[in-house]
Amino acid sequence: MGFAPHLPIRLDPREIAPDTFLLRSAQPALGAPLSVSLNSLVIRGEEPVVVDTSTVANRDAWLEDLTSLVDPADVRWIFISHDDEDHTGNLAQVLELCPAATVVMSWALTERSACSVAVPPERLRWVDPGGRLDVGDRTLLAIRPPVYDSPTTRALYDPTTGVLWASDTFATPMPAEPVDDVAEIPPPMWAEGFAMFHHHALAPWLSMVDHDAYAAEVRALRALDAEVVVAAHTPAITGPSVATAFDHLAALPRTVPPPHPDQAALEAALAGAP
Ligand SMILES: [Fe+2]
Ligand SMILES: [Fe+2]
Repeated sequence: MGFAPHLPIRLDPREIAPDTFLLRSAQPALGAPLSVSLNSLVIRGEEPVVVDTSTVANRDAWLEDLTSLVDPADVRWIFISHDDEDHTGNLAQVLELCPAATVVMSWALTERSACSVAVPPERLRWVDPGGRLDVGDRTLLAIRPPVYDSPTTRALYDPTTGVLWASDTFATPMPAEPVDDVAEIPPPMWAEGFAMFHHHALAPWLSMVDHDAYAAEVRALRALDAEVVVAAHTPAITGPSVATAFDHLAALPRTVPPPHPDQAALEAALAGAP
């Protein structure tokens, strides 16, 4: 059978702020006419930073995109937002390719990923939520976002460009034909997809959280006043969409998500496969 649902769709890198590039691919969703972003980030400042390392399935394209933007010998930092395989898929390769790079993690992330990728301790830097990372011409801020699927998750904010890397937060499906910006997703589809992904694929505990405590976390992230929000599983969020995205995020504990594809959808997908 030629059905290959997890082959990534290649998308070109996009400069989303000065010297700040979103490395992109997308994955067709199984059982639904949707696709899902699989992004990472490069900040090409004085000390270049690679933010997350994409997936094994996307290795060749990702390494090609990365090395087209930055000389691997110049990469000084590899920031890993959390220990899921769609964020650490090429960490071993980048470690080898970029001998001057230090891996920015935390104690918990190091421990949780040690069985798959062993980073030499002398190449580690541990930064906890609220911690800062001086990368020469800017100081980046590590933040625990309100929603995550690993306890090690840290978002990363660059105050010099106003770009927030939100890790898995703000995840949403997009049309089967990938788009560059959430503004290109029909608004009802964005709202429903955003709720479906956060409740079903990231944080099923959202319906159990204390509303006031959660709202305070969202307010704190919003207070950064990010100009552009990018993350692993969403097209770029820019302009007026930033405020809408935070509204969607704030509403999650009170939002009843649509159902996710079930066994019947799987059978339909299999029946329609070539
Ligand atoms: Fe994740
Ligand atoms: Fe992810």
